[in-house]
Amino acid sequence: MFSQNTLLIFFAIFFLHVSTITFASDPDPVQDFCIPHQKLLGSMNASHHHGIPSILPCKNSSETTATDFVFSGTKAAGNFSEDGIAVISASLANFPGLNTLGMSFARADIEVGGINPPHFHPRATELVHVVEGKVYIGFVDSSNRVFARVLEQGEVMVLPRGLVHFMMNVGDKIVTIFGSFNSQNPGMQKIPSAVFGSGIDEELLQKAFGLDSKQIGSMRRKFDPNSK
Ligand SMILES: *[C@@H]1O[C@H](CO)[C@@H](O)[C@H](O)[C@H]1NC(C)=O
Ligand SMILES: *[C@@H]1O[C@H](CO)[C@@H](O)[C@H](O)[C@H]1NC(C)=O
Ligand SMILES: *[C@@H]1O[C@H](CO)[C@@H](O)[C@H](O)[C@H]1NC(C)=O
Repeated sequence: MFSQNTLLIFFAIFFLHVSTITFASDPDPVQDFCIPHQKLLGSMNASHHHGIPSILPCKNSSETTATDFVFSGTKAAGNFSEDGIAVISASLANFPGLNTLGMSFARADIEVGGINPPHFHPRATELVHVVEGKVYIGFVDSSNRVFARVLEQGEVMVLPRGLVHFMMNVGDKIVTIFGSFNSQNPGMQKIPSAVFGSGIDEELLQKAFGLDSKQIGSMRRKFDPNSK
């Protein structure tokens, strides 16, 4: 019936498939912690996530100090963008202590009326905690159903992995939220810039959105940093 080779190939394909499923989230650590060498991280580049290998060599643990496990960048708000949001992410690229631990963190402050535009994290579910203020927040599932609410100080919402989500400050003071992610490198893709800021052929965008060349041009100027 089956030759030995056929069986071998079958098992090879089967195990490849199984391991793809097994490693769909961050792998479990195999030691207490693994602080990568700062100079290795320095040469990496958060916007280019493929540049961050999933396994980084650890520095000698005798050189590790408490400071390696502390990130202080979240003490104060960052710089506000045109959308009225300031995000500070504590992920592997700027918080090496996270390496191999499968988690990360972010602080976002949103001005009155400001928004966090629709975006998603391909590799993480996000837990959002409203530290201060009142925020309209929600996500869209894969059948385009919207699950949105106004959250007040102290409330928490979970945003399932890979689903598009958004926020808007609907109160009368600055909103501060903390977000935690179940990946050390959750990744983030903003819908407007993925579509209009990424160099997709203009004819395709015109057809997809029913926009003319002038309208596409104005969307490109807004969302493509290279077209300014
Ligand atoms: C980040 O990576 C991209 C793609 O490799 C590269 O074009 C860009 O110059 C890099 N940026 C920095 C600050 O290294
Ligand atoms: C780590 O550092 C200790 C103390 O300096 C040293 O004894 C040990 O050999 C080092 N281990 C490695 C793998 O370099
Ligand atoms: C905010 O902008 C200033 C001036 O460009 C810069 O020096 C500072 O590092 C920025 N802060 C953050 C948290 O990015």
